[in-house]
Formats: sequence, C-alpha cells, structure tokens
Amino acid sequence: MRAVLYDSVGSPDVLYVGDVPAPQPADDELLVRVHATALNRADLLQRRGAYPPPPNASPILGLEVAGEVVHAPNDAPFARGERVMAVVTGGGYAEYACVPVGMAMRVPESFTWEQAAAIPEAFLTAYLNLFVLGGLQAGERVLIHAAASGVGTAAIQLAREAGAQIFATAGTPEKLAKCRELGATIAINYKQEDFATIVRGATNGRGVDLILDFVGAPNWSANLEALAVGGRLMLVGFLGGSKSPVLDLAPILTKSLRVTGTTLRRMPLPQKIALTRAFASFAMSRFQSGTLQPIIDRVFPLEQAAEAHRYMESNQNIGKIILRVD
Ligand SMILES: NC(=O)c1ccc[n+]([C@@H]2O[C@H](COP(=O)([O-])OP(=O)(O)OC[C@H]3O[C@@H](n4cnc5c(N)ncnc54)[C@H](OP(=O)(O)O)[C@@H]3O)[C@@H](O)[C@H]2O)c1
Repeated sequence: MRAVLYDSVGSPDVLYVGDVPAPQPADDELLVRVHATALNRADLLQRRGAYPPPPNASPILGLEVAGEVVHAPNDAPFARGERVMAVVTGGGYAEYACVPVGMAMRVPESFTWEQAAAIPEAFLTAYLNLFVLGGLQAGERVLIHAAASGVGTAAIQLAREAGAQIFATAGTPEKLAKCRELGATIAINYKQEDFATIVRGATNGRGVDLILDFVGAPNWSANLEALAVGGRLMLVGFLGGSKSPVLDLAPILTKSLRVTGTTLRRMPLPQKIALTRAFASFAMSRFQSGTLQPIIDRVFPLEQAAEAHRYMESNQNIGKIILRVD
C-alpha cells in the first residue's frame, strides 16, 4: 500500500510516499481503506523525533482516518463497504489502517471523506476536555485558547451547544472573526491584548469556570488569574513550551482550582471507546442537521504531506488540514 514514510527524523523534507505491506487487523479490529486523513500537531512532533508512538501503535504518522470497511470481525456492527471515521493511535497517512471496532463512528450521510476526516481527533479531544473531564455546564464561562485551531474550532462549537458563554483567543483578525462566527462572545487577540485583564473586565472580576489551554507555560500565570473560584484548567498542549522559571502555585489553593492534563493517544482503549460512544450520541444528529460542522482549511493530496506539514508549522490554518489519500 502507499503510505507517507520517513527514514530519518527531521524537517518536513524527510517525508515521502513509498510502498509498505498493508496492516493485518487483530480479531477486534476493522481493516479500513482510507480515503482521507488529517494533520495533527503530534504528527509534526513525531516527524521531528520528539513524540514516539506508544507501544504496539503503527510507526506510520496519522491519528485519524475516514474510509470504507474492507474487513470486519463477524460480530462487528459494521459491514464491508460501510463508511467510517475514527481516531487511531497511528497509521493514518496510508491507504489501509486498522481501527478497533469500538472506535469506529459512521460517517454522516451527506459528508465527504474530507469532512469526515476532520472530525475524530479534534472533536473527541474537545469533548473529552470540555465535558467528560472538565464538567462544563450550561451557563458557565469557558476560555478557549488557540481557538481557531482544529481542536479550538471544534471546542467552540461544542461549548456553544452546551450553552456556555465562550471567550476565545487567537493570533489574527481572520481567526478571531471565525471564532465569533462559530459562537465565541468575546474574541481576544492574545498578541495585542492581555487576555486575563479582558476576561476579568468582562466578568465583573469573577473570571471563567473552565480554560482549555494548548499553549502551556507562557499562559500559566494569566490562566490562574483568569479563572474563577472553583475553576478548572485543562492542559491539552504545550505549543508555547511546558517549562516556566516563574511558577506561583498559590492561586490553586486560594481559589480552589483544579488542573488536569491528558493525551487522547495514550488513554487506555476501553476509556477511548466509552468516550467515542458518548461523543457519537451527543454529536451525530447535530452533524446531520448541520448544527455542528467540521472546519476545514485546506486539502492536500497524500503526495504533498511535506507541504501540508510546512503549512501547519506556519500557524496559518483555521480549522483542519486534510490529506486526501486517493
Ligand atoms: N492532549 C491531547 O489529547 C491532544 C489531542 C489533539 C491535539 N492536542 C493539542 O491541541 C493543540 C491544537 O492542535 P491542533 O492540531 O488543533 O492545532 P492547529 O490547528 O495546528 O492550530 C494551532 C494554532 O495554535 C496557535 N499557536 C501556535 N503556537 C502558539 C503559541 N506559542 N502560543 C499561542 N498560540 C500558538 C496558532 O494560532 P494563532 O495564530 O492563534 O497563534 C496555531 O495556528 C496542539 O497543542 C495539540 O498538540 C492535544
């Protein structure tokens, strides 16, 4: 099968399309003919050698797929030819991928392969952190950083559907406009404005109940300042770095804050399956009706994976970057 490969870690230039044997599904897995996959920041780190795949995961890049079932276990609720989408622990940038049966979701009827590939990783990460771990409730206030990212655009929509008031940060006027269009009430250019000051000003000094943070160390102090008493800080990424020489832990005690970190990729499979089922029952009818939408910035053919990686590294995308596999 065709797959995106690399022989040594490094810049996007190391990526090329080559031939490797198709994977063999285990007893509880579907074999899927992949038609589209999508980029994730983790792919860039893995390509640089900074994020090795977990044990037993495919060494091929790619954390999500959309495609048709070509082989299913006898008792699986999916038949040959059905259109599915899923998070995988690796192997998405290829013509065939193995998907644990419980992780597969049916592709909404009217959706293209590209739309389907834009859903799994971004929406499951957002759903996990906002609702399952973050406990976001209707009427609460949430601050979403890097809000025009793949995960951010999913999170804004999910928080809106939950009836939360949304604060969003992003780095350009176009990104801020998209955040407002998707449901953010207050959109802040973090490069020009201090988000903690704006949050406190807009909430009569109270702060927000939940923060979804992908930036890490540079946001640490301002995040604690922006949280309300009893607030929750969800650490999902470290785009700005994970180490800070200035660390004041005091607000965690004085404001009774909770700080949580997760990675979807390393979550045990039974928990990931339960998450996938909960998300599917919340979201599928909303995708069908158009209330929730996968946000796609650009589509590249598989052969241009290096170009797609360079594009993500340039921080220009609003929503997901897709690789078309056929
Ligand atoms: N823990 C998990 O399970 C999990 C799962 C999926 C993704 N993630 C993480 O979620 C984050 C978003 O992923 P994605 O694929 O959705 O990203 P993406 O679409 O590539 O968007 C990332 C955006 O973040 C902003 N950014 C980059 N560096 C920044 C910095 N130093 N400070 C502030 N903003 C910065 C940029 O937008 P601006 O122009 O607005 O700065 C950039 O376009 C990543 O950190 C990723 O690793 C975590």
